[in-house]
Amino acid sequence: MSKFIASPANSLSGNLKVPGDKSISHRSIMLGSLSNGITKVSGFLEGEDALSTLKAFQAMGVKIEREGDNVTIHGVGINGLKKPEKALDLGNSGTSIRLMSGILAAQAFDCELVGDESLSKRPMGRVINPLKEMGAVIESNDGKPPLKITGGQTLKGIHYDLPVASAQVKSCVLLAGLYANGDTCVTEPAPTRDHTERMLKGLGYKVHVNNNQMCLTGGGELKATSIQVPSDISSAAFFMVAACIAPQADITLLGVNINPTRTGVIDILKLMGANLTLANEREIGGELLADIRIQSSKLKGIQIPESLVPLAIDEFPAVFIAASCATGETILTGAKELRVKESDRIQVMADGLSILGIENQVLEDGIKIQGGSFKKPTGIIESHHDHRISMSFAVASLRCNYPIEINGVDNVMTSFPNFVNLSNTAGMAITEI
Ligand code: S3P
Repeated sequence: MSKFIASPANSLSGNLKVPGDKSISHRSIMLGSLSNGITKVSGFLEGEDALSTLKAFQAMGVKIEREGDNVTIHGVGINGLKKPEKALDLGNSGTSIRLMSGILAAQAFDCELVGDESLSKRPMGRVINPLKEMGAVIESNDGKPPLKITGGQTLKGIHYDLPVASAQVKSCVLLAGLYANGDTCVTEPAPTRDHTERMLKGLGYKVHVNNNQMCLTGGGELKATSIQVPSDISSAAFFMVAACIAPQADITLLGVNINPTRTGVIDILKLMGANLTLANEREIGGELLADIRIQSSKLKGIQIPESLVPLAIDEFPAVFIAASCATGETILTGAKELRVKESDRIQVMADGLSILGIENQVLEDGIKIQGGSFKKPTGIIESHHDHRISMSFAVASLRCNYPIEINGVDNVMTSFPNFVNLSNTAGMAITEI
């Protein structure tokens, strides 16, 4: 089990390019594989999660070549997948297992989806239930992986009201809908990331979006095209917070995806007083990009609007570090979903903040954090193998006068393989041992 030692640092500078977006990278492999023709992907995230998806589709007979972040997918068409020889191991990746279960529920063959210890604890009932309504046959371990999917079923389109605002569930149902008889519609209680809908449209599939409802009709085809993956705002978020809290900072994050379903972290940091500006906004392949400049900021505590929660769902560990360095109290509610991510991100962050002397109160669906200053750590911070927890506490080193030790950082490789290098290039002092 590896750990980070994040030594004190106080300045951050440079033009930084964080790796490709994880959500878009997953979808590029899935939809590229199901397309007719060759899809060329650039800027693909070379993280373990996206590679789990890539390997799974290779195991189902899709020829996929990768050279660094350039990937060529020889699409097999919507009905061209082959039965994998063994169970598909999706590692730590919730997006892989939830989205792929929608595709695999509709195949002619049986298959099994497995994952690591963390993934094996995550709730799958949220995808199993709507898929069963569509006619899928899936066995699970009491609502958790492994998932055993029996092929050869005829799926029917459904109208599904999402019980939780989840892009993974929405995408799973829409992907199953590609194979279903008739129309499949998903209604979401609040906007969630819409990369699946955008990419389907980019590949020539009609998706009707009407306010909070997305509908498609089964039986169409996907036409290969090139996909440029923008930088991941969820990875950029660590540097946004880092620059806000660093005593001296002026950085620019280049080519970051600013899809409006992902920019909650920008809105939250701005409400807290962040010195953050967007420049060079452009659209590439149906996604919006911008360069984001962030300078040292005097942050203030806020009540985080609940409407921003799904739009910043992966960024809260980093936001909690910003809240710790703000004046006054920050209150988050309506964020129960954080408890079922790669770790219970409310409790695990609260425990780590307490080790750094930050007063906090855990709520059932959120947290209250009293801004202050990081003290000498009273112990080692446990990330519970959650990549975003590890990176968030590493960033806290910009405001701590003592080294911060973080255990179980191996999973940083799932989403941000060059995190340590890029952080140190920008001015941090992180070593991995
Ligand atoms: C994702 C959706 C979100 C997010 C995850 C990626 C996606 O999960 O937390 O990291 O790519 O669709 P939920 O749908 O469970 O909120």
